[in-house]
This record gives sequence, structure tokens and C-alpha cells, in this order.
Amino acid sequence: MKKRVLTGIKPTGYAHIGNYFGAIKPAIEMSNNNEYDCFYFIADNHALNTLKSAEEMKEYAYNIACTWLACGLDPEKVVFYRQTDVPEVFHLNWILSNVTPKGLMNRAHAYKAKVEENQKNGEDLDSGINMGLYNYPILMAADILLFGTDIVPVGLDQKQHIEIARDIAESFNKKYGKTFVVPEPYIEKETCTLVGLDGRKMSKSYNNAIQLFTDEKTLQKSINRIVTDSRLPGEPKDPECTLAILFKIFADEERYSKFVNDLKAGLGWGEAKKQLFEVMNAHIAPMREKFDYFMAHKDEVDEILKLGAEKARKVASEYYEKTLKNIGVK
Ligand code: ADP
Ligand code: TRP
Repeated sequence: MKKRVLTGIKPTGYAHIGNYFGAIKPAIEMSNNNEYDCFYFIADNHALNTLKSAEEMKEYAYNIACTWLACGLDPEKVVFYRQTDVPEVFHLNWILSNVTPKGLMNRAHAYKAKVEENQKNGEDLDSGINMGLYNYPILMAADILLFGTDIVPVGLDQKQHIEIARDIAESFNKKYGKTFVVPEPYIEKETCTLVGLDGRKMSKSYNNAIQLFTDEKTLQKSINRIVTDSRLPGEPKDPECTLAILFKIFADEERYSKFVNDLKAGLGWGEAKKQLFEVMNAHIAPMREKFDYFMAHKDEVDEILKLGAEKARKVASEYYEKTLKNIGVK
């Protein structure tokens, strides 16, 4: 039997190269392998927590959808859908809440970080925390368990969420009999946490991301913002600097070794940034064309997502019915 692979990206901003290397690229590669049966989706309800307006939701959801398609997702091979179009996810979310200990949610990183920040600032510990943030991992478990998922390709920051989904699946199976597959994360070693412009994890929320699809000028500008030290041309540079890390994932082995040797021999930061732009742009340009095409043909994207949702619901409803039977309501 084929292994089922599933992953989602929330539309909370424009897709960046961390999303691409951490989640999208490995997921597309898996979809080209016959051993896998792939389900990829836009996690729009997960985005509600951070988005400020309906306009943002629309804009970012199309950005993420067109990004997947531009990066090579083939809707004939992959079931590609919007989370919101599969209402069974939200029903299952409630059922799973009832086997999920509150303590497990208290330990979830995003929630804990917010509580710690409040504590540090002398604020009420619950300040700025809504139930969407608190329950986030349960909704994510529902996304995963509803499809009998074996493998979830994600970046390292999502590892804990997959572990929580495993815990929830195991407690449910223990209480009601084997219902859900216990999923495994798939995390690429090399790009599990790609650094951003400031050297921290690249993230939409840190304003340190290099957007995957922008025009060449904006890409060059983002690269120019990469923080470097103040060493002058001629002085040796750190071969593990952010520029070298980014260069490595875009260039082939030979080009990368030359770049690192040149850095050690004193290549100036300005020239290094120019070279990084060249390798990045060469990789992105063909996909950018496709991205621009889909952004100009949103009706095609809507149609692809609609057909994907129909396929997704077929599978989802089987698991959902089985769940209802096992809890005794059917
Ligand atoms: P962001 O942190 O920018 O909001 P998301 O949470 O939407 O990104 O992540 C979507 C997918 O991209 C997840 O699988 C996540 O692990 C992966 N990802 C996000 N940032 C990075 C990064 N800097 N390096 C590697 N993978 C990443
Ligand atoms: N929480 C994930 C993120 O922030 C997005 C997501 C939602 C997801 N549901 C999922 C990822 C299910 C994998 C599987 O990136």
C-alpha cells in the first residue's frame, strides 16, 4: 500500500524560501515518487489567529496556492485543497478535544512562548492569548488524522505539533479501538531551519524572510538586507555566515566550494551578495513565470482547489464515519 503524505501551510504572509526548502520542495519531491499518495492543503483556519483582515486572508491564500502550483505541484497527482472546504476537519477537531489533556496544550511551544513573554513583561499571563492559539495543535491533529496520514513533511519548528498529533491518536485508539494511523514527521536535515536575513529562523512573523516570488529588484533588495559583519573586502569572512548557508542550498557543490573559498580569501560582502542573487534568481526565475501565470488566472486556481476538495472529502468522510462509529454515535 502507498504511504499517505500530508502537509499544510497557513496563509499568514507571502511564501518565503524557508517554506520552500523546509516544506514545499520536499513535499513536491515526494509527490513525484509513486510510493506516496499526497494531500497538500492551505491551512486557512490556522491562519485566523494572526491575520488582521479578510483582504489579507484572500491575498495570502492565493499567494500560497499559486506558490505550490508554481513549485511543481501537479493537481492530477496530489489532492490539493483548502482546509475550510473539508468541514469534517472541524468536526473531528471537537471529538479530538475530548481525548486531549489540557496539560498537553499547556506545553505547546507557541502558547508557552506567549505566556513566558507576558510573564517577562509583567502582564496578565493570558494577555493576548485566544482559544484559537491554545487549541491550534488539536486542529492540526485533526488535519493529519482525518486522512490516515503516515508521513508529514515539515520544518523543524513543527516537530512538536506532530508529536502532539501522535499522542492524541494514541490516546484515542486506546480508548475507542484502533481508529487513526499514528503519523511520523519527515524533516530534511539540511534545511530544517533555514536562517533569515538577521540570522534567526526565517519566518513570516519576524520580518526577516526572503519572499520566494517577487520581482528581481525586490529579491536583490532583500539579499542586500542580509546582516553581515563589518569586515572589509580583502579580509577573510566566516564560511558559515548567512550568505554561505543560503548559497549552499541554491548552488551546486562546485559553485558553493568556490564561493566559500572566495569568502575565506576576502571576497567583499557586496560582491558576495551579487553572486548569491545570481544563483537564487536562476533557481527561482522559471518558477516565477508559472507563479505569475496562476496569479493572473485565479479562476483556474479556484477550480483546482474545488476539485481537490471533492477528492479530499471522499477520503475524509470515510475516516470521519469510522470515528463516529467508534465513539458510538452511529
Ligand atoms: P512561518 O514561520 O514563516 O509563519 P509557517 O509556520 O507557515 O512559516 O510554515 C510553513 C512550513 O514551512 C512548515 O512546514 C514550516 O516548518 C516550514 N518552515 C517555515 N519556516 C522555515 C524555515 N525557516 N526553515 C525551514 N522550514 C521552515
Ligand atoms: N502549523 C503548520 C505551520 O504553521 C501548518 C499546518 C496546519 C500543518 N495543519 C497542518 C502542517 C498539518 C502539517 C500538517 O506551518
